[in-house]
Amino acid sequence: MSEPKKLFIKTYGCQMNVYDSERMSEALGGQGYVETKTPDDADMILLNTCHIREKAAEKVYSELGRFKGLKAEKPDLKIGVAGCVAQAEGEEIMRRQPLVDLVVGPQSYHRLPEMEARTRAGEKALDTDFPEEDKFEKLKNRPKAKRGPTAFLTVQEGCDKFCAFCVVPYTRGAEVSRPADRIIREAHDLVERGVREITLLGQNVNAYHGAGPDGDMTLAGLIWELNKVDGLERIRFTTSHPNDMADDLIEAHGSCEKLMPYLHLPVQSGSDRILKRMNRSHTAESYLRLIERIRAARPDIVMSGDFIVGFPEETEEDFQATLDLVEEVKYGYAYSFKYSTRPGTPAAERAQVDSAAADDRLQRLQALITRHQREIQDGMVGRTVRVLFEKPGRLPGQMVGKSEYLHSVHVKGPEIAVGDLKEVQITDSGANSLAGELL
Ligand code: SAH
Ligand code: SF4
Ligand code: F3S
Repeated sequence: MSEPKKLFIKTYGCQMNVYDSERMSEALGGQGYVETKTPDDADMILLNTCHIREKAAEKVYSELGRFKGLKAEKPDLKIGVAGCVAQAEGEEIMRRQPLVDLVVGPQSYHRLPEMEARTRAGEKALDTDFPEEDKFEKLKNRPKAKRGPTAFLTVQEGCDKFCAFCVVPYTRGAEVSRPADRIIREAHDLVERGVREITLLGQNVNAYHGAGPDGDMTLAGLIWELNKVDGLERIRFTTSHPNDMADDLIEAHGSCEKLMPYLHLPVQSGSDRILKRMNRSHTAESYLRLIERIRAARPDIVMSGDFIVGFPEETEEDFQATLDLVEEVKYGYAYSFKYSTRPGTPAAERAQVDSAAADDRLQRLQALITRHQREIQDGMVGRTVRVLFEKPGRLPGQMVGKSEYLHSVHVKGPEIAVGDLKEVQITDSGANSLAGELL
């Protein structure tokens, strides 16, 4: 039998890329590849890339440059670029970096085995189509390996919202939902392999409307179906858009026992003028009222969000409105970014905010978010939470897991196993995690 070939995948960007990298690894498993942790002994290197901000995209080229020496030593080494930079830049990548053998966009991963074979025959392989078929169905080549307790599961992909700053509608294409029965089958398969928590993924996950037994199913409908899966203990989903936060989904947060009390609901700005210019089609007020309804359904829910500062034409007054909104919501987590100009998006053409002013706003916003984050985390001390243990901690006999609210919790307990779900009394709050004791 011949030695298995080795595959090194490096993943950038969002959780969907993490999920896609797993699928690509499985697909190439069918071609005799096993994954390796270092590029040094790889027969194929795949970079699964992100195009969301300029820095993310440029990183790819500096990383590729580093493989020059390896490729010179090992002419059989194949180098591929997948993900959103592949989709956005296509052939340009091979022009800019001739050592690249393969470029594959996110909708064409099921064609990867055939593309790999072409590179072995000495050709360059490029595919950035948006084909009609369900790539995930065609990627089902998976070995039944045991898995950790948490997993991602893509249910929806692409976006039709066209926020003025964002590349996703161009790199991931139009919104498509996977049929419910396939998702449920995949969830059963994950649970059989040891998974106890599933995070449903989509760029616009709450716009989910996949085919179900009686017409289209909503995300809430899908969550209720998954709630019936024996052995599955926790359900999460990300990322949601405020405009698709339907009543049945809010209601599920109040009544569905496996749905966790945590919601990532990006707002981007607190200024209605800027929201309009961003093409967000909600206002700060409508967003705040929405959160009121969500909290009425599930009072202990921890909110999380995304913000962009320094969006074109943002004034200090607009920024102040963002701080006011953050002050009102009090996020348990929030991610904030300095606006990055993306060629081809509408906002790229507009008057840009002074870079130093944007840096200053970012710092002020992050300081406020960190303060709230800390307050909410500290507020957990004395409470009892349920922790799903994921891995050993740094100290001997210590295990780390996540609470319902997605806080990391460290617990001393040599008897705890990975995958255990246990009641924990929180005793202390540190910089980025909680500590507790088994009840
Ligand atoms: N689909 C998700 C998130 C997409 S990207 C959603 O709609 O919320 C993740 C985050 O990156 C966005 O929420 C936004 O805050 C940020 N982002 C997107 N484009 C950006 C840009 N051009 N510059 C800076 N941040 C950006
Ligand atoms: Fe991008 Fe999200 Fe807006 Fe879609 S809804 S365009 S993914 S920020
Ligand atoms: Fe990046 Fe593409 Fe995800 S641009 S954030 S990898 S959808």
